[in-house]
Amino acid sequence: MIADQHVQPLRDALTRADFTVDAVYALLGDDAHRALGRNQTTPAVRATRGDGDLATLVRLFALQVPVARDRAESALPGLVEPLAAAGMLEVSADEVRALVDVRPYGDEEHDWWVVCDPTSGLDGRSAPMDPSYVLGISEASSSLAQLTIRRPAGRALDLGTGCGVQALHLAQHVGEVVATDVNPRALAMARLTAALNEAAVDVRDGSLFDPVAGETFDLIATNPPFVISPPGSQVLVYRDSGMPGDSVVRHLVENAAAHLNDGGWCQILANWAHHRGIDWQDDLGGWLDGQPLDAWILQREVVDPAAYVEMWLADAGLAGSDDYVARYDAWLDWFESEGIEAIGFGWLSLRKTAATPVHRLEEWTGEIAQPVGPTIAAWGDRVDALRGLDDAALLDRTFRQAIDLVEETRGAAGADDPESIVIRLQHGVRRARQVDTVEAGLVGASDGDLTSGQILDALASLLGRDAAELRRTYAPTVRDLVSEGYLV
Ligand SMILES: C[S@@+](CC[C@H](N)C(=O)[O-])C[C@H]1O[C@@H](n2cnc3c(N)ncnc32)[C@H](O)[C@@H]1O
Repeated sequence: MIADQHVQPLRDALTRADFTVDAVYALLGDDAHRALGRNQTTPAVRATRGDGDLATLVRLFALQVPVARDRAESALPGLVEPLAAAGMLEVSADEVRALVDVRPYGDEEHDWWVVCDPTSGLDGRSAPMDPSYVLGISEASSSLAQLTIRRPAGRALDLGTGCGVQALHLAQHVGEVVATDVNPRALAMARLTAALNEAAVDVRDGSLFDPVAGETFDLIATNPPFVISPPGSQVLVYRDSGMPGDSVVRHLVENAAAHLNDGGWCQILANWAHHRGIDWQDDLGGWLDGQPLDAWILQREVVDPAAYVEMWLADAGLAGSDDYVARYDAWLDWFESEGIEAIGFGWLSLRKTAATPVHRLEEWTGEIAQPVGPTIAAWGDRVDALRGLDDAALLDRTFRQAIDLVEETRGAAGADDPESIVIRLQHGVRRARQVDTVEAGLVGASDGDLTSGQILDALASLLGRDAAELRRTYAPTVRDLVSEGYLV
């Protein structure tokens, strides 16, 4: 990548051209933007026929179209030669082509640029991926960015940083950020991403936790190379660890506590194998055995082996290749021999604790209101609040219903009583729960005034039931309602 003295001029050039997410969107318009999201460049090429520097940068980097040399010189004054010398551009007599992508990116408050390899598969082109390919911002990157707890913290680790996107986010709320990778191209790109955005990131070379041996963090955010592929197949470093099965994720779980400060979180995006005859929760629960970690593991999706193989062969640019069928068949053979009958996709949020750990392993394929990070942090707070609280103490507490909780009733039109009542959260994990009359009354009356025990006593008298029995029966329900966030 370019030498230090060219970073500021590059930043200035990108700023002067207003090379930002919003400006590019405005230039392309809805249709071309959506088409680009489908990897189709034609509408965007048509939308960038003008001769402004912004159009030049979009063509050069996002659309992978060669631009006239004088246009490149205008958009990147004094930088064409240094960028070419650094292997970022290719210059011929009168044309310039980008060999890497410099991509506008941002959050609500910032405009950033991320340096990565050019998007593969534009306009239906298919070619096997280069093993050292450095991924840009993928759906998985965005998922992890939204899962990550954004509370101020002292030290954070972005393990497997790639283009450096997670480190960029972490640098906004964490004092010291360490980012690691094993791919030298990724390390160079992550360094340039950080420098271009004036983010202080300590980028280190090495595998998994090796570069941070003996160090601890308040937050670890990782989108690791989690693809479950057969041994002996070509390792694409952006997605394959080379470790068998899902053992890279297991390794991260089993070594997280040693690298966390008390109360620190490790958040992992992952795939895991479903083995024949074994509950996935038992497999993953086993990884947590003996670890001083609270854990909330959410399975977001399960796919069958064939769908999984198709997805990753296409991702590798191998759809339609001569050995496509042979690779597909071999991958399925291997899944069969390993007893893998499905693959789970999901999120692991682990927190180091000195207390008895609480584990929640569940499937939620329903809607999630993003960002989900605050919901994960709030779950941790509720775990702390509930820990060590016996039923009597719990019923002595006051609760309020979650701020945006809605109640849905269903039944025959005009009937006095509903047949079913469901309460539904509108934020984070938008879970729903069918409740009975007592639970509905309890949630409805929870306004932070009366304790849950007092509300249950009032309901007992209203419904003609025994108050002690109602307290006994519904104490676990109160615990669930709090733990799941319906009551806060
Ligand atoms: C899926 S990409 C994630 C990139 C980026 N963090 C993001 O969120 O988009 C996984 C990254 O892990 C890196 N990687 C692969 N094997 C690794 C290892 N053994 N230790 C550390 N990083 C590794 C890859 O080079 C790649 O950059």
